[in-house]
Amino acid sequence: MKQVVVNILQKALKDKGVKMKKDEIERIIEMPPSSDMGDYAFPCFFLASKLKSEPSQIALELRSKIKKYPLTDFDDVQTSGAYVNFILDRKDMARRIVWEAITQKKNFGKSKIGKGKRVVVEFSSPNIAKPFGIGHLRSTIIGNSIANLHEFYGFKVTRINYLGDWGTQFGKLLLGYEKFGSEKKLEKIPIKHLLEVYVKANKKIYEKKSREWFKRLEEGDRKALMLWKIFRGFSLEDLRKMYKLLNIKFDFYDGESLQNKEMKKVIAELKEKKLLQKSDGALIVDLKKHNLGVSLIEKSDGTTLYATRDLAAAIKRQKKYKFKKMIYEVGQEQKLHFKQVFKILELMGYKWAKDCVHVDHGLYLDKDGKRFSTRKGKSIVMKDILDKTTLLAKEEIQKRAPKISKRELEKRALTVAIAAIFYGDLKNSRTHNMVFDIKKFVSFEGDTGPYILYSYARASSILRKAGPQGKFKIEDLDPKELELVKKLSQFPDTVLRAYNTLAPSLIANYSFQVAKLFNEFYHACPVIGSENEAFRLALVEAFRQVLRNSLDLLGIETLEEM
Ligand code: ARG
Repeated sequence: MKQVVVNILQKALKDKGVKMKKDEIERIIEMPPSSDMGDYAFPCFFLASKLKSEPSQIALELRSKIKKYPLTDFDDVQTSGAYVNFILDRKDMARRIVWEAITQKKNFGKSKIGKGKRVVVEFSSPNIAKPFGIGHLRSTIIGNSIANLHEFYGFKVTRINYLGDWGTQFGKLLLGYEKFGSEKKLEKIPIKHLLEVYVKANKKIYEKKSREWFKRLEEGDRKALMLWKIFRGFSLEDLRKMYKLLNIKFDFYDGESLQNKEMKKVIAELKEKKLLQKSDGALIVDLKKHNLGVSLIEKSDGTTLYATRDLAAAIKRQKKYKFKKMIYEVGQEQKLHFKQVFKILELMGYKWAKDCVHVDHGLYLDKDGKRFSTRKGKSIVMKDILDKTTLLAKEEIQKRAPKISKRELEKRALTVAIAAIFYGDLKNSRTHNMVFDIKKFVSFEGDTGPYILYSYARASSILRKAGPQGKFKIEDLDPKELELVKKLSQFPDTVLRAYNTLAPSLIANYSFQVAKLFNEFYHACPVIGSENEAFRLALVEAFRQVLRNSLDLLGIETLEEM
């Protein structure tokens, strides 16, 4: 609908000698806060200096131009001060939007922007031999949603988890295991044990020995490699369990360790392209000219680095997937690293370097607003968080449904807990730091995941009670019906904006707003047994579908009953 308004305005502006692009106009159009001020408003202030006239005068002139066009979708076009207000044929709009949502179902809001194009989304990427901590949760949640968003738009999406499974820290781990390890413990509590020996070995006195272990590993020493493989296997098993709970899937588990073969080639290529320099026995790429410092490629002892592996991985992926775009969802602290990697790829002559994007995010903060990791040096283990959240969710569910079976309770509580955590994250703009507070996340009231799930379940329950539906007619629109309809009509635009700015938060915020309007509508307008039952049921169904589509994009599962 907004596009129709944009087109009309573009034409009217052109008649007045002002040439503007569609997306420029789109940005200026406002949605008035209340329906009696119209459905779309175009403020004319910005035209005053250009047209050397009063904004209110310009509004009047635009309106009189527009009034001469044949307008089918509008009841009226008015002005109020400097604004041109468009008043939709609201019944017609309501009929159309509701019908589209309930017939297009999962496809409502989709587009084919990505048809035939491949996008690689790398996300989560935790470091192995440690419990999955909340340090990698943001990337997991946001990256998953960004991948979903691309799928929704028709892209072929490859989801990659790039494990931190190589590097000097594995020297420490191997040494730690040699010195303090126990086979029995490794069998029983592998991840805990590995963390334990790592912490013991992570000391200055062991540094030299650890480095030697890593060198052995990189040179393919049998014992080192065998142990490393065992550690990796246990870690992967542990991680997979967590992803299964969280409903996160990957097409490919990549890892730093899988770049070894190509790394030699990359170093040779850098040499050949005259990009490498010696510096204190190490090899670097000097990027000072580009204001990006220097990037370390090979240490003086011949071992390789994080950046080297990322270069190799990127080149390999472009060969394998021929991606149109590759997204790395990784924390803000790695901004410089990715700028360096992309710059080096560009200097190597890879044109596709411009198709690589680092999509970053801020930190989780503790309730006191401080960083988690600095506190007691402890990282927060995801499994504990999930257990705690599930327990809180159980209490809430039992308050509302005391007779529910144990199995059903378990199932619902896990879904609610994940919705709480995912939504708690995604409602925030990804680049901001945010407070991670599960008590707040899990509340059934306010701007939370459970509140939204509850609204969904309420809609489902109404539809269940009413049974199958047929045609509907619209007599009069209640203001609350109108508000909900308008919000539903904004779904496709919201998804588009989220896609353009890689901002799932827009869809999260939308989900809350639409759920809130649904609840307001439900309180104001009786559905079953009312005179407008058929339309209202259709509206409930349209709402349920649109909310479902939104939550799908966020990676949040729904419940039919709560
Ligand atoms: N494992 C890394 C870390 O935890 C993140 C990896 C990000 N991806 C990449 N291609 N470098 O810091």
